[in-house]
Amino acid sequence: IDTFTNEFRKGYITVNGFSMPVGYRDFAEKIENFEVKDDDIWICSFPKTGTTWTQEMIWNIVNNLDFEGAKVQLVERFPFLEFSALFDYRVLKAAHPEKEFSQSVSNSVEFVKDKPSPRFIKCHLPFCLLPRQIRTGEKKPKIIYVARNPKDTCISYYHHCQLLEGYRGNFDDFCRLFLGNKLNYTPYWDHILDFWKQKAHLNILFLKYEHMKADLPAVIKKSAAFLDKTLSEDQVKTLAEHLNFANMKVNPAVNYEHAIARSKKSFNIEGSFIRSGEIGQWKERMSDSMIQEFNRLTEEKFSDYNLIF
Ligand code: A3P
Repeated sequence: IDTFTNEFRKGYITVNGFSMPVGYRDFAEKIENFEVKDDDIWICSFPKTGTTWTQEMIWNIVNNLDFEGAKVQLVERFPFLEFSALFDYRVLKAAHPEKEFSQSVSNSVEFVKDKPSPRFIKCHLPFCLLPRQIRTGEKKPKIIYVARNPKDTCISYYHHCQLLEGYRGNFDDFCRLFLGNKLNYTPYWDHILDFWKQKAHLNILFLKYEHMKADLPAVIKKSAAFLDKTLSEDQVKTLAEHLNFANMKVNPAVNYEHAIARSKKSFNIEGSFIRSGEIGQWKERMSDSMIQEFNRLTEEKFSDYNLIF
């Protein structure tokens, strides 16, 4: 695994105990000093926990189910703060000279900064790397944090890394990278816990992927209440329909089909961003010893905090 790990992790760095892409260095200061606004709406999460799903839900609640406006690409409506830190833009541009990339790709921090209020901001940053004004409580934007059970998150991350980052190892080795905190934004457990511990200090709504799967209308109502919005029963039903897996999968504004098409070509692989949307795939995919290790860590990290998946 070491040779492979070193190859796959070329360019990863560790910042405050979290694995980050090397490009983060170029944006660290800008993010630290990012001017937060009290009316910003942030979605924070560990990757593959239902971020895109939550973004589409929150954007539509705030914009009164403006499904016409929601045809604009999600990355433009609800940009990803540190996206440009994930890759080297110059390399991307050289590989696709014919394509015009938006500033949301070339300089995502600047792009987010200049968005009109209320700004919708996605990030996967751990709490300790959020802009200073949020950490210190100087600004109190609304933050929605979405979490998902670790084993399903790992499976989803595995497919993501195959599709978008060129991972070519097997699933067992990928689980070891996940457990060994050798993937972007790991450690998973501390990522969740650090936000969970801030619940009393931040203006934060904590959501779970599993709850969205079980009762999306309830989560829509809870989120609307958090955002000071009132939706009729009909609106809740319409939004839940818009957000269901089958509709999201074919919605070109949210399914990243253009980026996936480029990636499929580069990595010669099939797949889609909105992939299976299931809970419990780990039962078929993970070995018993891997399940035990995930369960042991989850128990060790979460049991004192009543965080149950
Ligand atoms: P799977 O790979 O398990 O299918 P993120 O947006 O944080 O990257 O999360 C992606 C995960 O959310 C993927 O999980 C994706 O399929 C799932 N997802 C996206 N939209 C969904 C929906 N409407 N219903 C259920 N799962 C959804």
